Amino acid sequence: RTKTRVHHLAEMKLRGERWGMLTAYDYSSARIFDEAGIPVLLVGDSAANVVYGYDTTVPVTTEELLPLVRGVVRGAPHALVVADLPFGSYEASPEQALATATRFFKEGLAHAVKLEGGVRAAPQIAALTAAGIPVMAHIGFTPQSVNGLGGFRVQGRGDGASQLLDDALAVEEAGAFSVVMEMVPAELAGQVTGKLTIPTVGIGAGADCDGQVLVWQDMAGYTSGKTAKFVRRFGEVGAALREAATGYADAVRERSFPAAEHSF
Ligand code: KIV
Ligand code: NA
Repeated sequence: RTKTRVHHLAEMKLRGERWGMLTAYDYSSARIFDEAGIPVLLVGDSAANVVYGYDTTVPVTTEELLPLVRGVVRGAPHALVVADLPFGSYEASPEQALATATRFFKEGLAHAVKLEGGVRAAPQIAALTAAGIPVMAHIGFTPQSVNGLGGFRVQGRGDGASQLLDDALAVEEAGAFSVVMEMVPAELAGQVTGKLTIPTVGIGAGADCDGQVLVWQDMAGYTSGKTAKFVRRFGEVGAALREAATGYADAVRERSFPAAEHSF
């Protein structure tokens, strides 16, 4: 198997081939996803929620994300590993974005970075692209702006449709190699996908995007509480892990583990 590169994703769009992207936050899960043939792994700032237990992605820092990126890159020799730039690490200026993205490249060994924003993030995207850092953009519902957007809401409805299209065209023009669209009406996401030459990646954006992405814990049934409407559970990893931990605790209590074959 060859290593996935940015140009492979563009070629898949031309061939009309769909691909699934997953988040990953550590070596062990990244290995499994790489072996499963997932071409793109995202070390999402959703680590704020699923790794660090914060309510939103706002508080997570570069220092908290960098070690996760290193682990994922070591575990996934074939995947294109994209690292999210956290809130507060790139918005101020293209210079700030370049300084942060450089850390994810030099220290994290990521292959690309992702940042949130359309028209407003275009100068940052252009600066990173010029420096040789491939950028995936993220438009529609952008979780780092949850407080400004008035909660978890579908974006691009009504008048919002032309803003979403402007954002999509702006990130393509600025040099992004791909764009995530989150919580956008399916029909609009399909229109944007048809208008752009770069591949779109949907999450809650219908079936017509070039790729799809899910947080792996949502995908595998390893999230507690209720999940978003756009999630489908492809496994019950949480239940399997709970059963394993309970079985282990019981076996130790009942003295059936360790047995003779586990002893020296
Ligand atoms: O952080 C994340 O997990 C994401 C994806 C869900 C797109 O940004
Ligand atoms: Na993210």
